[in-house]
Amino acid sequence: MTRSPQTSKQKIGPVTKICCIGAGYVGGPTMAMIAKKCPHIDVRVVDINEARIAQWNSDVLPIYEPGLNEVVKECRGRNLTFTTAVDESIRGADMVFISVNTPTKTFGVGAGRAANLEFIEKCARKIAEVSEGHKIVVEKSTLPVRTAEAVKTILSSTTNGASFDVLSNPEFLAEGTAIEDLLEPDRVLIGGESEAAINALVDVYANWVPRERLLTTNLWSSELSKLTANAFLAQRVSSINAISALCEATEADVDEVALAIGTDSRIGPKFLKASVGFGGSCFQKDILNLVYLCEYFGLPEAAEYWEQVVKMNDFQKSRFVTRIVRTLFNTVSDKKIAVWGFAFKKDTNDTRESAAIYVCRDLLLEKAKLSIYDPRVTKEQIHRDLTEAILASGVDANTCDALLQTNVEIADSCDSSAADAHAIALLTEWDEFAEADFKTIHASMKKPAFIFDGRNTLKKLSLDDLGFRYFGIGF
Ligand code: UDX
Ligand code: ADP
Repeated sequence: MTRSPQTSKQKIGPVTKICCIGAGYVGGPTMAMIAKKCPHIDVRVVDINEARIAQWNSDVLPIYEPGLNEVVKECRGRNLTFTTAVDESIRGADMVFISVNTPTKTFGVGAGRAANLEFIEKCARKIAEVSEGHKIVVEKSTLPVRTAEAVKTILSSTTNGASFDVLSNPEFLAEGTAIEDLLEPDRVLIGGESEAAINALVDVYANWVPRERLLTTNLWSSELSKLTANAFLAQRVSSINAISALCEATEADVDEVALAIGTDSRIGPKFLKASVGFGGSCFQKDILNLVYLCEYFGLPEAAEYWEQVVKMNDFQKSRFVTRIVRTLFNTVSDKKIAVWGFAFKKDTNDTRESAAIYVCRDLLLEKAKLSIYDPRVTKEQIHRDLTEAILASGVDANTCDALLQTNVEIADSCDSSAADAHAIALLTEWDEFAEADFKTIHASMKKPAFIFDGRNTLKKLSLDDLGFRYFGIGF
């Protein structure tokens, strides 16, 4: 049995000071929104990464998110602070959010599946070490179900006489639409054991979210709901992608199938867009985490069921590469391929688990020459991602360096990347791609000029009429 944490019997007052540990994709925007909507609350976002905090305090924020700049500008210096002063910010807060990364473990027990909770544990230890009085600790990071048990146990080791309530408040925002999602969430989920603590957090969100959208549950349901939501969303993408493969073999059109099934109100139209494969920091990590939990709790059939969603996604990425190679007369060796888009979806500079990384890696291993253009992702990031992926595929460091030196160029526009190319591979659905001047682009390319559209972004442009050989997903 684990020892229960000391839970305060004192009355919990309204929250006036919040500290959020972790100034990342989740912590930064979420806290900025709380600061905007709750001018009476002092919000401090802390991080051990000095460079990241410096960026949050500069004109160029560390993450690109439409509308975020405006919110940060409005609140920074008023009631929103970004700082590396971790200890004093925790000590001064009534409520401490933990919003640090929980990557998939790469070593030891559960490697490749389980979440690495090292950073969460360090936060809990730090809170236990520096806290005085009573604090509400809120898990914002996506965590395996029952993590709060460990957090509570660590907090109970405090020697300062502090007391804690632990809540789970998973974040459902999607990147690229973070500000919209935070302004008008479908729901806010708050799980906990203490009604007073739950109400304190409910009162924070009630400053802008209608009460009926504030769902309260027990701790474990809240933790598990986040993993489940991501698993269901990813499963829809893998399901429609599986159908896209069948469409290509049967002359059905996946967008028509998606429309036909999506008008059934039981299925609904969202998240049925066939693509080159889902990416992002959450879907794969959370499913693998779910798989690990199922195995851990002795449910191998449930584990296998969810694992298939990730396998289907891997198949979709490799199928895309195979289609390019086969169509380009079974070889892409020494052929220039323009890669349009590297982020895992539009309107973000995030490349974590982006399908583009794996498509580019496989094309490079086929000896293609890539000219990559993404409006938001830096050259350094692209190099880092490709280096990591190529090394992980077993290529030695020297060969990898040479491959990147000779076969990867970063272009500054989609037009320049396409000049002299045999093919364009569109991997991220940035709006500007549909607005390109395809007549000029066609003239600048080698013939026949191929387009492989991993997002069906250009489908309506009748590019075949301009002389292109156009291939999309699922038709
Ligand atoms: C996701 C969840 O949507 C969000 O609720 C959670 O908090 C974090 O994980 P995110 O990863 O930011 O958000 O992006 P999302 O819009 O869900 O897209 C994930 C991936 O699926 C992207 O690569 C996207 O291109 C792909 N996708 C999405 C499709 O291929 N087809 C679709 O129909 C929808
Ligand atoms: P997410 O997408 O979940 O927001 P990110 O990786 O973007 O994840 O951000 C997590 C942030 O948490 C990083 O900036 C990292 O430096 C920070 N972090 C991790 N561990 C700690 C810690 N113990 N104390 C403070 N910050 C931390």
